[in-house]
Amino acid sequence: MTFAGLFRRAAPGALKHSRKVAILGAAGGIGQPLAMLMKLNPLVSSLSLYDIANTPGVAADVSHVNTRAEVKGYAGEEQLAEALTGADLVIIPAGVPRKPGMTRDDLFNINAGIVKSLCTAISKHCPEAVVNMISNPVNSTVPIAAEVFKKASTYDSKKLFGVTTLDVVRARTFYAGKKGLAVEDVDVPVVGGHAGITILPLFSQATPKATLTDEEIDALTKRTQDGGTEVVQAKAGKGSATLSMAYAGALFAESCLKGLNGEPGIVECTYVASTVTELPFFSSKVRLGKDGVEEVLGLGALSEYEKKGLEAMKAELKASIQKGVDFAKQS
Ligand code: NAI
Repeated sequence: MTFAGLFRRAAPGALKHSRKVAILGAAGGIGQPLAMLMKLNPLVSSLSLYDIANTPGVAADVSHVNTRAEVKGYAGEEQLAEALTGADLVIIPAGVPRKPGMTRDDLFNINAGIVKSLCTAISKHCPEAVVNMISNPVNSTVPIAAEVFKKASTYDSKKLFGVTTLDVVRARTFYAGKKGLAVEDVDVPVVGGHAGITILPLFSQATPKATLTDEEIDALTKRTQDGGTEVVQAKAGKGSATLSMAYAGALFAESCLKGLNGEPGIVECTYVASTVTELPFFSSKVRLGKDGVEEVLGLGALSEYEKKGLEAMKAELKASIQKGVDFAKQS
């Protein structure tokens, strides 16, 4: 008996790769469902679940799922080195989430320190790993990670990614819903950053193409930008997106693993070191390969509405990047 939808066999050839994936913050709202989704991924041979507490239980639970990955739980800083050693991919959803009324930037004071200490450990124990940063504010935590790695002389801009996939997932869902399209067939690039107006969905490039009025474009853009806040308000103090984020994080991690394994044609929108605009970090389509970023792709043709959105976000994104750089340099 097989459960075709959930139990996936690796594509021929993928099993020859052993891939260790570490999740830091694995006992949290995102970490737990993300741990399960990565356990279901046949590209993962070893799954390392780290948190400051509660990971033995999560690891024991997930380890009983009859899939390839061997699961180990690590709790507390003294076990972080072992959790990271040999990791090909480190996913970081560690830190506090938003409560109603908070912006992502309000999380900076707590999460910046957490990200800094975790990235310091990565630079010591798995300096060559690909890093997927989920912890908010992503617009600042990615620059913090870059500075930490620079200080440790381990920085490889090709291996550091801010995870913005949830914005793409939302834009796809909202666009498909509005136009009555089969959501599985829909794609919408989302560029910029991962907070408020820095999230810029490019509905002019959405596929399949559907006619949108100016009002529809504006409403879909705002809903994508405020998608996180929609969830924060609905959860009414119990956190932010966790299940949809775990799904998005698992999609992005799978693409990174496919790239590492040499699968061609893997393209995702993600927040990386970039020369697409004058900003040092920017999210756009990126082709993933054996060394992480293979090529940062351009923005393509933008509508007038999108051009305005791009200009409008720049000051905020620039300030968020600088805030991260300053924090890492000062502390
Ligand atoms: P949560 O509070 O449920 O879980 C966070 C986990 O991190 C907890 O288990 C906590 O023990 C752990 N943690 C704290 N300090 C740690 C450390 N030093 N080392 C390892 N683990 C540590 O929060 P949730 O909902 O899972 O969110 C996590 C982060 O993800 C937040 O910053 C949130 O804003 C962000 N997020 C990012 C999204 C994105 O699109 N990039 C979307 C949704 C949330």
